[in-house]
Amino acid sequence: MDQVVKVGLIGFGTVGSGVVKILQNNADLIARRVGRDVVLAKIADLDVTTDRGVTVPTGVLTTNVNDILDDPQIDIVVELIGGHEPAKRFILQALSSKKGVVTANKALLADHGEEVFEAAFNAQADLGFEASVGGGIPIIRSLTEGLAGNHLTSIMGIMNGTSNYILTRMTEEARDFGDILQEATREGYAEADPSLDIDGIDAAHKLVIMVNLAYGTPVSMGAVYTEGISKISTVDIAFARELGFTIKLLGIAKCLGQVIEARVHPTLVPTESPMAQVHGVYNAIHLVGDAVGDIVLYGQGAGSLPTASAVVGDIIDLARNRIHESFSRVSPTSFQWESRKPLSIKLMAEIESRYYLRCMVKDEPSVLSTISGILGKHGISISSVLQKERKQGQPVPLIILTHRSIERGIQSALQDINALSIISESTTLIRMEDVE
Ligand code: NDP
Ligand code: HSE
Repeated sequence: MDQVVKVGLIGFGTVGSGVVKILQNNADLIARRVGRDVVLAKIADLDVTTDRGVTVPTGVLTTNVNDILDDPQIDIVVELIGGHEPAKRFILQALSSKKGVVTANKALLADHGEEVFEAAFNAQADLGFEASVGGGIPIIRSLTEGLAGNHLTSIMGIMNGTSNYILTRMTEEARDFGDILQEATREGYAEADPSLDIDGIDAAHKLVIMVNLAYGTPVSMGAVYTEGISKISTVDIAFARELGFTIKLLGIAKCLGQVIEARVHPTLVPTESPMAQVHGVYNAIHLVGDAVGDIVLYGQGAGSLPTASAVVGDIIDLARNRIHESFSRVSPTSFQWESRKPLSIKLMAEIESRYYLRCMVKDEPSVLSTISGILGKHGISISSVLQKERKQGQPVPLIILTHRSIERGIQSALQDINALSIISESTTLIRMEDVE
């Protein structure tokens, strides 16, 4: 091996340019930590003319990805283009050449993780993906190493920076989310396709990766109930606030023996809880281990430098492994490949939760008793009610918070409620969670 560790970067966008900045600005620190210089040998992007806010030596930029993949001198390939293809092909090719691979591509790992993990296992090559979950938060290494001695009973938290940024601004400024999403995109937080953020899919990608590592089981995206923030209005944010709650997009995983609960949806959390204090692009992931108890990891969940921090951490880890020729020491799946066991994911209809309901009702006297009667018939008990003053001839909101009940029951009750002639629009349902 050379006296330097050579890195090839594919994708010189938001995160890629952050990686270049850290490798340049902290080169000395990194060399002292690794024991060799870590040199950025090539950067491949479709566009090598746009100013990325960082200067690279002549000859480093290329539009030909094979300048990296086919170069036997390059030890570590960093994939930061995103999406399924050609990212998967590049990663598989690099692994089969026994190069170390670092990626931030949660969509790829959630949708095709088994193929990528198996390729790394077969090649006995290193695969780092710390930046795929929680931006700069070291959650992957916590799951695979720091907390590896624990049975994890739950993983819960804010795992999409863009949605949290939007919900925070909606809460603080009572603005609707269209222009706030544009701001998140300008800041470099949103995915190339921002519907992945606002529809909860990006958070579900991250939950799938974490469940896989925490419980040693493959998980398919289809098994994870996923609902985003696009239906959350400033009206619901204001009512929730009046009742002492804040709305957050949460990813929730619970281990119930041989069954896992895994879901992503907007959630009312108590306003005084730490989860409600997580603002803007910050993420917070709360884990409970049987030995360690409660752990919360908190930090910037998106953006150029925070995410690049995680990527560079992986580059350093892989560089150290190459120097010591100690590849694949930590399985990327956290569990040994042959020790993983498929676990089933609980059906959403069977989960238990508290619920916030906003019924838009016509101004008639017996409305509350009619609706509470339907909820009672389905075994759902009410914990509080908020009814706004009536305005002649206009529908009024009736807010109901329930005690814990089974999802199947609340969905059946909603069907009956929405069929009533006194209901002027489909009832809004938001789940609630007793976070600490
Ligand atoms: P960007 O869109 O900013 O950057 C991607 C870059 O890759 C673009 O310059 C793009 O060029 C280039 N590219 C696309 N296809 C190819 C190709 N075939 N060959 C060479 N270059 C190509 O994305 P981000 O930096 O934001 O995201 C990169 C990855 O990191 C994604 O997987 C994302 O999910 C993940 N991530 C992003 C975070 C963030 O905060 N932004 C946080 C955590 C993870 P062009 O623009 O011309 O298409
Ligand atoms: N779009 C993602 C987010 C990037 O907003 O959280 C970080 O994974």
